[in-house]
Amino acid sequence: MDFRIATLFFFAFLFSTNKAVDPCASQTDSSGLSVIPVYSKCSPFSPPKADSWVNTVMKMASKDPERFEYLASLGAQKKVTSAPIASGQQLFNVGNYVVRVKLGTPGQVMFMVLDTSNDVAWVPCAECTGCSTTTFSPNNSSSFGSLDCSVPQCAQVRGLSCPTTGSTPSPCFFNQSYGGDSSFSATLVQDSLGLASDVIPNYAFGCISSISGGSIPPQGLLGLGRGALSLLSQSGPLYSGVFSYCLPSFKSYYFSGSLKLGLSGQPNRMRTTPLLRNPHRPSLYYANLTGISVGHVLVPITPEFLAFNPNTGAGTIIDSGTVITRFVQPVYTAIRDEFRKQVKGPFSTLGAFDTCFAATSEAVAPTVTLHFTGLDLTLPMENSLIHSSSGNLACLLWPRHPIT
Ligand SMILES: *[C@@H]1O[C@H](CO)[C@@H](O)[C@H](O)[C@H]1NC(C)=O
Ligand SMILES: *[C@@H]1O[C@H](CO)[C@@H](O)[C@H](O)[C@H]1NC(C)=O
Ligand SMILES: *[C@@H]1O[C@H](CO)[C@@H](O)[C@H](O)[C@H]1NC(C)=O
Ligand SMILES: *[C@@H]1O[C@H](CO)[C@@H](O)[C@H](O)[C@H]1NC(C)=O
Repeated sequence: MDFRIATLFFFAFLFSTNKAVDPCASQTDSSGLSVIPVYSKCSPFSPPKADSWVNTVMKMASKDPERFEYLASLGAQKKVTSAPIASGQQLFNVGNYVVRVKLGTPGQVMFMVLDTSNDVAWVPCAECTGCSTTTFSPNNSSSFGSLDCSVPQCAQVRGLSCPTTGSTPSPCFFNQSYGGDSSFSATLVQDSLGLASDVIPNYAFGCISSISGGSIPPQGLLGLGRGALSLLSQSGPLYSGVFSYCLPSFKSYYFSGSLKLGLSGQPNRMRTTPLLRNPHRPSLYYANLTGISVGHVLVPITPEFLAFNPNTGAGTIIDSGTVITRFVQPVYTAIRDEFRKQVKGPFSTLGAFDTCFAATSEAVAPTVTLHFTGLDLTLPMENSLIHSSSGNLACLLWPRHPIT
């Protein structure tokens, strides 16, 4: 299969001077929403005991291979097989960041996973088979409406099963795979979606009636992809299709990041690179990664391994759901070899990472810079190195089994 996407994931940093404020209170300024790491203190999915940073990252990253399969399947019309029902232990495989939204009238609070590579939103509805206890209750919302197979939105959903014949309109029923190992069945419905102080009326989303597999976010998912049913498309002129997000560092257990929607309120000093559309995978956000430097050395990489190609779907995508950045094998090897040249060995292997060294050498470790069209992004050390839980090893934060 000629498929190569590098998924990139950035931690961003926010600095706050607010001290006396409850860190978990959701701010309500218009069009600004908290983005909460799923394992953090402020998340309803937070484990009872805070885990170490490395364990948290590894736990989150454990779903990356399936995530990758899933992203690959988006263009390829490949069927992703579904797995049997997972045990309760899998509760935490729920995507990485959640936002607090209100659905219906009066608003029912849901913590939905933010997914930049998905178009549709969906939530577990009352009486869903296999869902967790927090569900959306259509009966309790005065603004709820059902959508049948004849509405144009219905044609936009993947995994649709509308009857092709018959005169009575039937509910817009669909079944989708998610995360590589899970699937759900839902009907397309509409209701008011409340984001901070904004309300989007008649928002079309999937009302889940049954799930299988362990990767379905327990309180639903909010798709920020490029498609017709994504948040940006359905909110129309309200946000003019503009959003930005700032992801909090995993080290700040209490801290949240932000999702900013619309032009006003965006940071005014930003460096940018164009986001590209690839018809082969129309939901995804691509960027033109043109090179990688380790320290001051531009790593020699055959351009075709990075090239954006609208015909094959190849290129670099930015995805909120993939924890660790991945490169195709030749690119990974070139980066790693240059990194090893500049850091004092010996090197050892730890789990998926093959370039681990004494943490005392970290002070001299080179920074990694990603070169995009019009933007050089030097990663903070926290994004290029990970420490063993005992703290005496530092590893280059890219898995040694990259994409093939
Ligand atoms: C609907 O609202 C009533 C009254 O607030 C509540 O008792 C009931 O549990 C709700 N139903 C569902 C299915 O959430
Ligand atoms: C919602 O209302 C319908 C019709 O009144 C009823 O059949 C159904 O059981 C209710 N569902 C819940 C979860 O209360
Ligand atoms: C979705 O469809 C697949 C294939 O037909 C099936 O195996 C799976 O059980 C369905 N999922 C749900 C939740 O109904
Ligand atoms: C990506 O960058 C390369 C190198 O600068 C350039 O040749 C190419 O046209 C760019 N591709 C797109 C789609 O911007």
